[in-house]
Amino acid sequence: MKIRKLKAGDASKFFDVRLMGLREFSHAFGRSADEFQKQTLDSIADQIETGVSQGNFILGAFNDEDELLGVVGFLKQPGEKVRHTAILWGMYVIPQARRKGVARELIKEFIAEVRKHEEIEQIKLTVESGNLSARRLYESFGFEPFGTEPRVLKVDGKYYHEDHMMLRLKNSGN
Ligand SMILES: CC(C)(COP(=O)(O)OP(=O)(O)OC[C@H]1O[C@@H](n2cnc3c(N)ncnc32)[C@H](O)[C@@H]1OP(=O)(O)O)[C@@H](O)C(=O)NCCC(=O)NCCS
Repeated sequence: MKIRKLKAGDASKFFDVRLMGLREFSHAFGRSADEFQKQTLDSIADQIETGVSQGNFILGAFNDEDELLGVVGFLKQPGEKVRHTAILWGMYVIPQARRKGVARELIKEFIAEVRKHEEIEQIKLTVESGNLSARRLYESFGFEPFGTEPRVLKVDGKYYHEDHMMLRLKNSGN
């Protein structure tokens, strides 16, 4: 397995994997599959390129056949007062590649990449409160829950809560 940052040329593979995730776990992600699939591949390629030019990235895990098995996204916060916190988003591994350590490798690499950004002191994410697999994964890297936002998502008339989690990379401050 190879982990690397996605490039504009990976737009088609990213589109397929992300859409699969949004369809399979509509209550795990804020974006709806219908909204997402209205985008063209060109616009996705643009978003990847723009993200990279702003210091953001999406990590992809590829097998020997260069198939994309899983992804995780990194988003910087540009504001002066919030740029010490980065966001982890879009963690997803395709069903046939699960429970083989793909997510673990992605997050390991993600944290190593984030540590290269001197100004970033902590990583935050949200996880649907009933998603115990993902929560265990994050906890195993030291992410700690710090609150629950009720009724964040409404999917087919049902409400879902989200837990906020944070990993502190540096122990400075309170
Ligand atoms: C959660 C998810 C990313 C895990 O990916 P994965 O590649 O199967 O995970 P790994 O094999 O690397 O497992 C790493 C750890 O995650 C946890 N985990 C993963 N799947 C689990 C499951 N089905 N049940 C319990 N714990 C699980 C375990 O702690 C595991 O460590 P272990 O194998 O030592 O027990 C994957 O199941 C997925 O894409 N789910 C749907 C989308 C989603 O929920 N994304 C998160 C949005 S916040």
